[in-house]
Amino acid sequence: MNKAKIIEVGVRDGLQNEKTPVPTDVKLELINRLIGSGLSVVEATSFVSPKWVPQMADHKEIVEQLPHDSSINFPVLTPNLKGFDNAIAAGAKEVAVFAAASESFSQKNINCSIEESVARFEPIFEKAQSLGIKVRGYVSCVLGCPYEGEIAAEQVAKVANILYQSGSYEVSLGDTIGVGTPGKTKTLIETIKNLIPINALAVHFHDTYGQALANIYAALECGVRNIDSSVAGLGGCPYAKGASGNVATEDVVYMLDGLGIDTGINLDKLVDAGDYISQYLKRENNSKVARAILAKRS
Ligand code: HMG
Ligand code: MG
Repeated sequence: MNKAKIIEVGVRDGLQNEKTPVPTDVKLELINRLIGSGLSVVEATSFVSPKWVPQMADHKEIVEQLPHDSSINFPVLTPNLKGFDNAIAAGAKEVAVFAAASESFSQKNINCSIEESVARFEPIFEKAQSLGIKVRGYVSCVLGCPYEGEIAAEQVAKVANILYQSGSYEVSLGDTIGVGTPGKTKTLIETIKNLIPINALAVHFHDTYGQALANIYAALECGVRNIDSSVAGLGGCPYAKGASGNVATEDVVYMLDGLGIDTGINLDKLVDAGDYISQYLKRENNSKVARAILAKRS
């Protein structure tokens, strides 16, 4: 059976961007609804500085109250050893380190150069290995940077490979500002495929220019089967002005269903989860599929 894995990032990537932080119990309810729809990976929060991202300041409470289900992975973002130690103390079993392919974005996002960020991750990888903690790696700005514009595929490949060689079981390629197009997506993946096995690559598209689904289709054609997405298309990035949310999980699941690629996700239940958070935020659902399904129901 042709299968794909969806990494739901809405609770972190989506809600980190809300002007008013979303209460912990609403986030937990959303997480429960998401796993109830069949998602097996739900990125739960980030152990970053609450001064930088107050929306994620309840990271400890979130991790402590995550459902006890060993079949589900709840990665949390950790930019440095302090974040990693706090995450593990709260009970996290999987973390994600995040680097960028662009120097300027690295400075704006995590206040250090790419080289410094990689050096900060080294003790995380070491400690994670000794504790049996899985580490996911992110590279941002893989198809363009809000400060530097075009980013060479070779530069992305270099950073992605460092994260992979350091011990990331999967490297997620982030089109942070959603500027990529399918041709560029293909070129990027073909370049990286020479260094990192395709099953260890994930794609993470924001949908600012409406290209995300087309880009995912291009990635699928290259053999990628790990896809990051955000329920109801929540999100953006606080350090990438104007960037809109991730591709909506509902839209990705609908497309994969149509292609006969199994995700193990119940689309109706997923739509309910997206409707729950959209209603809480008093915001129109950003998923076209969810809007169509909800309109049909009423
Ligand atoms: P810094 O100011 O350079 O850190 O920030 P520092 O080491 O100099 O410490 C300054 C203060 O922060 C100290 O506290 C530290 O204790 C504290 P003070 O003494 O002033 O009271 N601190 C921390 N507190 C809690 N947790 C920590 C931590 N580390 C230091 N882990 C830092 C460096 C990385 C912490 C900061 O820049 C930061 O938190 N940045 C957040 C970036 C972020 O969350 N961005 C969004 C996520 S990335 C993303 O969305 C992209 C992605 O989706 C992929 C894509 O779309 O491309 C993943
Ligand atoms: Mg993102």
